[in-house]
Amino acid sequence: MCGIIGFTGILDAKTVLTEGLKELEYRGYDSAGISFFTDNGIRTVKATGKVSNLCDKVKEESKETAACGIGHTRWATHGGVSDVNCHPHKAGKVTLIHNGIIENYKELQEELAKDGQFPVSQTDSEIAAMVINSCYNGNPVQAIKDAVKKLDGAYAFCIMFEDHPDVIYAIRNGSPLVAASCEEGSVIASDMVALIKYSKDYFVLPERHIARLTKNEIVVTDMEHRVIMPKMLHVNWDVAAARKGGYDYFMLKEIHEQPDSLRNTIAPRVVDGLPDFTADQIPDSMFDGIHKIVITACGTAMHAGLIGKNMIEKLTRVPVSVEIASEFRYASPIIDEHTLVITISQSGETADTLAALRLARENGSKTLSIVNVKGSSIARESDYVLYTHAGPEIAVASTKAYTVQLSALYLFAFRFALVTGKLTEEAARDYIGKLEHAISIVEEVLSYDKQIETICQRLKTAEDLFFIGRGLDYGLSCEGSIKLKEISYIHSEAYAAGELKHGTISLITDNIPVIALATQENVLPKMISNIREVRSRGAMVILVTNAEVTVDASLCDHLIKLPAIADEFAPFAAAVVLQYIAYYTAISRGLNVDQPRNLAKSVTVE
Ligand code: G6P
Repeated sequence: MCGIIGFTGILDAKTVLTEGLKELEYRGYDSAGISFFTDNGIRTVKATGKVSNLCDKVKEESKETAACGIGHTRWATHGGVSDVNCHPHKAGKVTLIHNGIIENYKELQEELAKDGQFPVSQTDSEIAAMVINSCYNGNPVQAIKDAVKKLDGAYAFCIMFEDHPDVIYAIRNGSPLVAASCEEGSVIASDMVALIKYSKDYFVLPERHIARLTKNEIVVTDMEHRVIMPKMLHVNWDVAAARKGGYDYFMLKEIHEQPDSLRNTIAPRVVDGLPDFTADQIPDSMFDGIHKIVITACGTAMHAGLIGKNMIEKLTRVPVSVEIASEFRYASPIIDEHTLVITISQSGETADTLAALRLARENGSKTLSIVNVKGSSIARESDYVLYTHAGPEIAVASTKAYTVQLSALYLFAFRFALVTGKLTEEAARDYIGKLEHAISIVEEVLSYDKQIETICQRLKTAEDLFFIGRGLDYGLSCEGSIKLKEISYIHSEAYAAGELKHGTISLITDNIPVIALATQENVLPKMISNIREVRSRGAMVILVTNAEVTVDASLCDHLIKLPAIADEFAPFAAAVVLQYIAYYTAISRGLNVDQPRNLAKSVTVE
């Protein structure tokens, strides 16, 4: 969602801001703008569409040099996509950018109207600028403090005051902001991808604390004006990790990074061949008295939960339910101190997942999060964290984050079962061995690209498409389907194969593509019957099976055989096939795979 960048220092701020906005493009946006201090006050340039449009406009319209400014990519929530709704917004002496939603903006707008103040845009963000301006008496920190008391909702603001040149003020509540000091000055952004060029050491601005950025330092104060020292964090990836590195798209690069991401996630948790969470500071007592597990997440992360559930239940015999976070948070879930709530999130900032986590805590449940971004809100608010080590994931369509989430869930299942005596050391070692072996299988499946690219030519003109599977393959189908629809814009559905005949089979007609996953031996005969059902109604079937399975040629139009892999670990290999199907189908339709329409990488609003 909205991207934020702010810089003050010795570099050309306009360049820092526009380059930073390019790095943040992956978050999803529909317009962009920057404001910067000039000798004649604050100047603002905005443009709808791509950041490149903004860059052209900046070149045309402004020749001034600038040492300090703020920049924003907007993903429209309140008010359509237009220059006037684009950030930064100005009210009196205040110029501001915002990520989040001010829920009580209507009431605030009515209050302002009583004083004869009216916004020019339709955004909640301009109202926030007006509220801060109305609280402003020459003291920026006091104005921000007074204003945020009136604001309900989520926000990350970067604010400049006309009479405080070259200084940026920032505050956040819910929405992310990270900041770093470097030799060239001070920089703040929505995420590390925009900061990494300047520093690998950074801090997450604590919620409801105010940061004051000048070219020499960043001072953070709490609401009582006390200076606090935020906890410094370090990223172990570099600028190259956030670049395409010779690939056409980030998505393709990230698909290929999966063996490394899996190794980096699994290796630190294997000690003497056994699952071990010592380095994660997760004590065995975490597993005490757990009667039930709830996994809650959104999108692809939720789909990882569907696969993880199977392994956890199988090994521990503790019931696991997988809940969509946006549903869970408004339900009245039956959870208590004997429930472990596992939240899964690549970004660690998804608003619904964060709210689900908070609900779990309110109900006294233990909380564990599986998160990729260090220091993110979900990680900070959980009792325990298992970090995945996928490095930055830039493509909106999640790939490597998914497979590392699977590996973290499997490690969790092994450790839980070992600690509670459900698994012997020997059996645990065997499972670890299979998990490590899955990495080399993923490597092997990466070489299927040409075969899958050719098959995808047949999907190019499809309007509807179905993924079917049973058991683990049904969970995988859900992921395959979302991946395909988000980047290829082909309508697709995932169906439990046995359920097809209860309605959906009426949609299967001549040449409708069906991607059938049949990697699980225990349901193979049933799955084959289901494939025959769709085939006899004219479906064009692409079948994905395990190496050991022998199927007769009449069953499908295209057969993709995975290398030999234990059934429970087949999701790692099949995931790569499904990612390739989505990728090459989108490519064959000439689409921008990394930035699909209407979507955002990290969804920080409800
Ligand atoms: C967005 C992204 C998805 C992602 C989901 C959850 O919708 O486009 O790729 O799976 O959010 O994100 P999270 O960061 O919580 O894993």
